[in-house]
Order: sequence, then C-alpha cells, then structure tokens
Amino acid sequence: MKVYVPRDAAAKALGADDVAAAFAAAGAEVVRNGTRGMIWLEPLVEVERDGQRIGYGAVTVDDIPAIMDGSAESLGVVEEIPFYAKQNRLTFQRCGVIDPLSLADYEAHGGLTGLRNALAMSAEDITTHVTESGLRGRGGAGFPTGIKWNTVRLAEAPQKYIVCNADEGDSGTFADRMIMEGDPFCLIEGMVIAGLGVGATKGYIYLRSEYPDAIEVMNEALVIARENNLLGRVLHSPREFDIEVRVGAGAYVCGEETSLLNSLEGKRGVVRAKPPLPALEGFLGRPTVVNNVISLATVPVIFEKGAAHYASFGLGRSKGTMPIQIAGNVKHGGLFETAFGMPLGELVNDIAGGTATGRPVKAVQVGGPLGAYFAPEKFDTPFAYEPFDGAGGLIGHAGVVVFDDSADMLGMARFAMEFCAIESCGKCTPCRIGSVRGVETLDRIAEGDATAIPLLVDLCETMKDGSLCALGGFTPYPVMSALEQFPEEFAGVKEAAE
Ligand code: NAI
Ligand code: SF4
Repeated sequence: MKVYVPRDAAAKALGADDVAAAFAAAGAEVVRNGTRGMIWLEPLVEVERDGQRIGYGAVTVDDIPAIMDGSAESLGVVEEIPFYAKQNRLTFQRCGVIDPLSLADYEAHGGLTGLRNALAMSAEDITTHVTESGLRGRGGAGFPTGIKWNTVRLAEAPQKYIVCNADEGDSGTFADRMIMEGDPFCLIEGMVIAGLGVGATKGYIYLRSEYPDAIEVMNEALVIARENNLLGRVLHSPREFDIEVRVGAGAYVCGEETSLLNSLEGKRGVVRAKPPLPALEGFLGRPTVVNNVISLATVPVIFEKGAAHYASFGLGRSKGTMPIQIAGNVKHGGLFETAFGMPLGELVNDIAGGTATGRPVKAVQVGGPLGAYFAPEKFDTPFAYEPFDGAGGLIGHAGVVVFDDSADMLGMARFAMEFCAIESCGKCTPCRIGSVRGVETLDRIAEGDATAIPLLVDLCETMKDGSLCALGGFTPYPVMSALEQFPEEFAGVKEAAE
C-alpha cells in the first residue's frame, strides 16, 4: 500500500511525522510529499488506489488501522476537493504531488523541460521570453522580471550573481516556504535558467533561520542537483552554475533587497540607498538579479509551456497566476494559486469559507504587515496589482489575513507602528523616529485626544514620502486604511464629533 504523508512544516506541526512513522511500522510504503496547501486538512494523508490518490484529512495515529483496511471515511480524490480543483496550478503544479527529493519524480512531472528549452536559447532570447510572459516580481513590488534580467544581462562585469530572496517575512505568508519544502528542484531550475539568461554562474538562496525544514530540504536538493549535473556543468552542457544556501538571522528588513545583500556580504543588515540598483551593483558590487522565491520558481513553467501560455492567464498587466496565501480567522486557510483577477470577496467568503468563528468578516489585511486593511465594502476589488493599488492598497507577497468583527482596528494600527519601530534598520529619520512617535500618537488617540489625529495623518504622510525603503514608507498603509474605514474606533474622532 502506497501512502503519501506530507513533510511540510505545517503538516509536521500537526503530527505528520508520527503518522508517517506509524504507517511505515504498519507495513505501508510511505512517501513524504510536500503539501497540497489545504492546511485545515493537515496532516492530509493520500492513499494510492486504482491509480488515484484518495485523501484523508486531519489524520492521527489512531485513524491508521481504519485507513489501511479501507473502512475510514475519505475526502475522495484529492484533486477533486473543491479548494484544490478551483485552482490554476502553474508554479505549484508539483507541490504536494511529488517526493520533493526525487529528481526522477520531478522530471516525470514536467521538471527540467523548461531548462532544456532554455539551454537551446540565447541569453537575449531567454530574457525576452521572460518579458513576454509578463512575469512580475512576486516578492511584492511587481517589477517586470524580464526587464530586471535584461539590465543584468547588458551590464558588463567579470562576475554576475543570482540571489534568491527567501527571507519571507510578511505576516500570513508561506508560499516561499511551501515550494522550497515541496518542490525544491523547481527553484533550483528557475535559478539556473536565470543564470543562463544574464550570464551568471553563481547563485545564493538567502533563507531565513525560522525555516529549518526548508533549509534542510533545499540543502539536500542542492547535493542531489550537483550529483546529477543539474548544477555544476548544467545538464552536461558547457554552461556552469552553482548555488549555495545562506541562512539569515531573522530581521524583517533583511527581506529588503539591499539590506539582504549587506547581510549576505557579512555586514549589518541596513538598507543601501538606490541607485545604484542591485541589477548594476549588487552582491559584492557586481550586477545581481535579486528575485523572490516565487518569481524564480515560476520561471520553469514559463519555459516548459511557453511565455504565451503563462501570459494567457490573469488580468490586464497582472499576467499569470498568483499563489495566494489565506490565513487568519478563516475556515479554510492555505495556499490557493489562481489567475490574477478573482475578487477579494470571493476569495474570503467562498474559497476560504468565511471566518472560523462564524462571526462577520470585519477586515482583511492584504500584503503583510505593511498592507492596507480592506473592509467588506471593497470586496469587489479584483486580486491584481493595479486594482489593489487603485483601492489604496497593495497585494505584496499575496498574504491575505482575515479578521472578524471582534478586531480592534486602533490596536491594529498601533501594532503596525510598533512593528515598524522594532524592525526599523535605523538608517532614516521618518521611519526610525516616526514609528516611535506613531505609537505615542495612537496612544493619545486611544485616550480620546482628538487633536492627535491630524498629527497622525501628517506623520503618515512624512513617513510615506520621506522613508528610504518600504518598511517606513508602507507602514502608513495599515494605519491610514484603519483610520479611514473605521473612524468610529478612533476615540478622538468620536469625541471631536460630539
Ligand atoms: P522597488 O519598487 O524599489 O523595486 C522593485 C525591484 O525592481 C527591485 O528589485 C529593484 O532593484 C528593481 N528595479 C527597479 N528599477 C529597475 C530597473 N530600471 N532595472 C532593473 N531593476 C529595477 O521595491 P522594493 O523596495 O524592492 O520592494 C517593496 C515591496 O516589497 C513592497 O511592495 C512589499 O510588498 C514587499 N515586501 C515583501 C515582503 C516579503 O516578505 N516578501 C516583506 C516586506 C515587503
Ligand atoms: Fe531603515 Fe526604516 Fe529607513 Fe527602511 S525606512 S531604510 S527600514 S530606517
């Protein structure tokens, strides 16, 4: 009997290791796959029967005898579970399906086809292909990946680098972790193609120390990749590429690309002024592609199925698919990869099934701790870069955190300022001092001082316009969106109106 038990950190946290050991002790053939991304069903055990994979949700060791003798109630065929069936899985096509550390499994499911195609192309054609796919930076900023690669390709230098930003720090996000744990060769393949496209021979994955499972899987995958000529002499061609994992110590600001580069060079993780862009003067002063995990892990499918295929998904300039991470107070939390354009309300109410508490949704924070709150009045906003920008927010790394009507929005605004004060690198005044003053000002508002509200607005404008990076510059988003949509919760406003 062949059984799949995820080795993903979320499944492990819910007892997957014990379940896997018990299945093995009972004589089953156990494959440790990645996760399908349906966290509320973890550990989601899959049993292979008649060529299909039948799912069993939230399995404990006690459920195993009934699963093995076929008497346990199943969820049916895993691919047909509505949350999964409604997705357009391109980047995550293999995650949860294959054994993450089997290169043969990877190849049998479309892996390395993209790299083989890229090896037959010129560097210029590779960067053009990425531009034509419409892929934009999935870390948050949404800058066109092909244009970034082309800048690096055209820069003259004896050495160039590919740096993968795996310092996933946004609240409610886990897509980077999931793909590294569930399909590590996909990221490796994407980085190798990036190297071919820009003329780089060395890559680094800057991975946060809070992800020990991802670190372990990526390091094991790198060894296998070297042994099988995915790295080194790339698929026995004359082209060379190698990758190293570097572990960050856990500062939020090290997810900002220049701070990350400083940390990678062994320096303190403070933000560098731009220009120069990392594309021209990045790691050790050399031209460097800095891309998020999901941007790089999406590259193989673009070269496997073609730029036009990828670009056929999405909405307007937001092309392709986005692995949306649904978290917070929801019934069905997890990873939902879909073409850009699905209205936010559909994601929250239909896909996620509303709140776990059963109370009405009050607000949704999209884009991490620096993202704006969206009240249900804005639920018709399509999930895509431009529409969110137009609605006063950002999709960021596509983390969606849902709150019910018990959420304290003034408290959430205070949390944003406090978070910024703690995580600020200290380089510029609006962020370093402004965030501390922001906490104090919100405390005054909480005590009913209405005169502090214009001060808060003024402070937010200064932080937005005067901060060097997104940490100080975007903290006003959650603060101002809370103030604008829930003014009655800012006691000072109430008092002023009375
Ligand atoms: P940015 O807009 O300054 O830059 C975006 C990217 O494009 C950078 O890599 C930059 O070097 C590159 N770029 C810009 N012009 C270029 C050109 N002409 N040629 C080549 N490359 C060029 O944005 P930034 O500060 O890098 O990122 C901000 C975003 O990060 C926010 O939108 C936020 O959502 C996101 N973020 C993500 C987090 C996560 O955990 N993934 C955490 C915190 C923030
Ligand atoms: Fe550092 Fe904050 Fe300035 Fe960014 S905005 S450079 S984190 S002080």
